[in-house]
Amino acid sequence: MKKKIQLSNSEKKALNELKSLSIQIKKYNDAYHKYDKPIISDHKFDELIKKNNELEKKFPYLRLKTSPNEYVGSKVLNKFSKINHKLPMLSLGNAFNENDLIEFIKRIKKFLKNEKIILEFSCEPKIDGLSINLTYKEGVLISAATRGDGLIGENVTENIKTIKNIPQKINTNNFPSLIEIRGEIFLEKKDFILLNSKLDDKEKFSNPRNAAAGSIRQLDINITKARPLKFVTHGVGFISKEYLSLKKLYNDMSLWGFAPSKYLKFSTKLKEMLRYHSDLNLKRSLINYDIDGIVFKLNDIELQKRLGFVGKNPRWAIAYKFESVKAFTKINSIDLQIGRTGAITPVARLEPVNIGGVVVSNATLHNFDEINNKDIRENDIVEIQRAGDVIPQILRVSKKLSKRNKAYKHPVNCPICDSILIKDEDGVIYRCLNYYKCKAQIIERLIHFVSKKAFNIDGMGEQQIKLFWNRKFIKNASDIFNIDKFKNEIIELEGWGKLSYNNLINNIEKSKSINIEKFIYALGIRFVGETTSQILSKYFDSIESLIKSAKNIKELEDIDGLGPKVIKSISEFIDNKDNIDEIRKIASNCQVIKRKEKFTKSIFNNKTVIFTGKLNEMSREEAKKRALDLGAKIASSISKNTDYLIYGENAGSKLNKAKELKISTLSEKKWLSMI
Ligand code: IVH
Repeated sequence: MKKKIQLSNSEKKALNELKSLSIQIKKYNDAYHKYDKPIISDHKFDELIKKNNELEKKFPYLRLKTSPNEYVGSKVLNKFSKINHKLPMLSLGNAFNENDLIEFIKRIKKFLKNEKIILEFSCEPKIDGLSINLTYKEGVLISAATRGDGLIGENVTENIKTIKNIPQKINTNNFPSLIEIRGEIFLEKKDFILLNSKLDDKEKFSNPRNAAAGSIRQLDINITKARPLKFVTHGVGFISKEYLSLKKLYNDMSLWGFAPSKYLKFSTKLKEMLRYHSDLNLKRSLINYDIDGIVFKLNDIELQKRLGFVGKNPRWAIAYKFESVKAFTKINSIDLQIGRTGAITPVARLEPVNIGGVVVSNATLHNFDEINNKDIRENDIVEIQRAGDVIPQILRVSKKLSKRNKAYKHPVNCPICDSILIKDEDGVIYRCLNYYKCKAQIIERLIHFVSKKAFNIDGMGEQQIKLFWNRKFIKNASDIFNIDKFKNEIIELEGWGKLSYNNLINNIEKSKSINIEKFIYALGIRFVGETTSQILSKYFDSIESLIKSAKNIKELEDIDGLGPKVIKSISEFIDNKDNIDEIRKIASNCQVIKRKEKFTKSIFNNKTVIFTGKLNEMSREEAKKRALDLGAKIASSISKNTDYLIYGENAGSKLNKAKELKISTLSEKKWLSMI
């Protein structure tokens, strides 16, 4: 018989507390990791862990078999590992009406410089699910990843293997040796309702999309297995086999066991495409799963390749969204938000309302003209609409339903730093010009600095930035890299503790290795968003060379894709000595990775190229894209730094100047033969 140990009163108390903590922590941990539904804040969770660890340290012999330390921090807290997609997972541009679709087709024809070309498009529903990337090597499913940030996703291979209509092995001999199959994971509406009926109120999902996402991101794959997830393919990423048309590709994919949408059709006629859109819109409620629009994709894969991408959207595909859902609600107040560049945006705080499965409690008002034009006032009852991921919009005030307040008066001073607001040149946006001192702007820039597309520091978001700022742990972005100076203070902060602190330090450490384009984006320079940062990263291979060139406006002016507003903003930013010091401080903490050059074999790699005259075989836009794809830099004015001038018909002064400067000139024909 086991000898019963006599416990002192304080030990008895500790044991009871440990038991209660283990039950609570298990519940919260499961809510977060198993059900994707956190029920307490991370801080509160860490606090419980801290309490538990202190007791275990004091009374090591009382540690329970069910101690959170048996799983927290190891198996369960390890979220999913990461997977690099072989080709980025992009997103689709949207069309909201017939005209947008017509413009989309026109743009393609213009780019291809062929107004008469007959274009064939696939038509398929846009499923409102979770996109997934399945990699097969020699016919075997080797990994499955969520989209993540488009470049890196989460490894959900084991969960995906539980989905019945995803084959794990393909034996057909025409199956490519390496292929990324992409598609949508979703739950049918009836399965979503059934699932929710079995969950407690707190655990219920708000729509089938969230339910599908929550069901995939399960560390316990038995939970995923119990949910009847389905898969529909809508394309491929990398593929070790050439296909000329989407039709043939989809056809082969069906034979391999990957079903594209059963509503898939092909059409060359705008009228038919529009009818397809309206037919499916009508049928929408009868379809077993949620769809939010129609995707049109160019059938010809050669043309797809020529067209390429603008930013993150392919030029050859578009999502024509169904009209959005609308609802009425009340504006409780109109608040002001100050962006990182000082722009003041009014925001309507709404009485929460459920629109198409999503609870909406804020809507942007864009600017004060919008408030004026629509005569929006606090307490008004307004009609709002939500379309997909788009921020909810206020359509109109219902004067009938509203008890009207006084007309809204726009502010004269910054609500945070009190400096006078100035209207932008465009006459619409009001801006606080106290860029360097306005607390709101500084904090917004810090939040931008750590955000996903910038330094991507996990565990450092709006809340933490505000907390550290208020405690004076950080003043500038570079201080983030020296946050360990405040180790003791941070550990003692409410809800922190060693575990959270160590995680944060690890994440900061990870963020230090950063691509140059993300570094540039993180600086938060006005007008320098993702696309401009990418353009700049192509021209400058170090932060120092960017600083040097930005001091000389001429060099910036010669970069294709940078407009005068952007150039002015960059050079003003770099003209400020404090900014340069700060950039250098940040850079000295990081390992800034140069843009990967994939084009070393091309003779145009790293060469500066100018186009002039009228091209016959392709549009100027396509020619530029081709040159960029080959690693070239495109300039607009000739200088001694120009390497090639490519000329079409009626080339004028540029051609003469190039000859004068002894720069290599290539006729359109010669250039075509070289590419
Ligand atoms: S094609 C290059 N087709 O919508 C883009 N996407 O913004 C390739 N989606 O995350 C995507 N149904 O997961 C495509 N029939 C369909 C789709 C579809 C849903 C999702 C997709 C992507 C998002 C595009």
